[in-house]
Amino acid sequence: MPLPQLPSSKLPNVKTTIFTTVGNLARKHKAVDLSQGFPDFEADPELIGLVSKAMMEGHNQYAPMQGLLPLREIIASKIKKLHNRFYNPKTEITVIAGATQGIYTAISTFVNEGDEVIVIKPAYDCYEPAIAVNGGIAIQVQLNAQDYTVNWEEFKFKVGPKTRMVIINTPHNPIGRIFAKSDMLQLQEILRDTNVILLSDEVYEHIVFDGEEHQSVSRFNDLASRSIICSSFGKTFHVTGWKIGYCVAPKELMHAFQKVHQFNVFCVPRPVQHALATYLETGSHYLDLGAFYQAKRDFFLDAIKDSRLKFTPSQGSYFQLVDYSALSEQSDEEFAKHLIIDHKLACIPISSFNTHSRDDKMLRFCFAKKEETLEKAAEILNLL
Ligand SMILES: Cc1ncc(COP(=O)(O)O)c(C=O)c1O
Repeated sequence: MPLPQLPSSKLPNVKTTIFTTVGNLARKHKAVDLSQGFPDFEADPELIGLVSKAMMEGHNQYAPMQGLLPLREIIASKIKKLHNRFYNPKTEITVIAGATQGIYTAISTFVNEGDEVIVIKPAYDCYEPAIAVNGGIAIQVQLNAQDYTVNWEEFKFKVGPKTRMVIINTPHNPIGRIFAKSDMLQLQEILRDTNVILLSDEVYEHIVFDGEEHQSVSRFNDLASRSIICSSFGKTFHVTGWKIGYCVAPKELMHAFQKVHQFNVFCVPRPVQHALATYLETGSHYLDLGAFYQAKRDFFLDAIKDSRLKFTPSQGSYFQLVDYSALSEQSDEEFAKHLIIDHKLACIPISSFNTHSRDDKMLRFCFAKKEETLEKAAEILNLL
């Protein structure tokens, strides 16, 4: 039978992602893998036990579309405690199938054909395809090459009558920087008299270092009133494979979000929600995460301090950027490939996340790894 003629792709420019390409090459060459953004250690057995218990006790059928109420309630009280804003668990919180789904649903809900969406580059790779599938146009604002800060003047210039949404990410993947309060205040001023919706990707909200605080958009009145915030329990509790997180937004925005959510996901696994509702009762389970990852960052950076790589310590997330320009003039993709094939170490080159693939000779290493993995990686880097 002849195949039906396929309509043209909605994502003609999307190729295999750099994560898949690097991951496949790393497996082929049995490389130490600091490329993929997930832990190589297990989650807390207590949390796993709570999920098993919920399953054994029969919590195995559909959950309510918004998520289990006890889970939404504890999310509300966590945000109130940390950022002093109350999101009503009945109307302003949805449990989602991971941040990727929350981000996709938020974009589908609010972005129409021809709408512009401002994306700060380098950007996590799920934003722009979601914008394109929904007929939107991504307007890129590239971070400075020297210190990866936002040029807010340039940003302001790009906000116009067609801007429907702005997407921010703090702590930032792949850069490992956080937005300061002054960044948030500038953003608030720029958006003040607009109808722009802010989508704030805060999946690394609990991974902030050196005594700094996570500046959630929920801390800023005017920003909070126009924002959907996405978070990920996968990142917070070392269970990226569970694909579960939450979105919060003011009632009207959340109502619109849920209209779409109920038809593309409806609800997410019930036993996991049960377990998380109990696990979140102990604040240290998430409040200690910054110290936990700071120790890993410091271990890794101390181990490579005598190498020829240059770096500024990551401020948040579990990623560290390093500058290899003293070692090679190869492009970052070539150099990353060479590291895998010739030195058996995998990391992510940054250029594919930048506007026009700007190559700053930067590589991203994930330090959500056991000390022995970090040690092996450091040994290789020190010999380069
Ligand atoms: C910045 C950022 N946003 C979103 C996600 C996706 O999170 P989830 O696994 O919960 O879908 C990731 C995962 O790497 C991320 O780094």
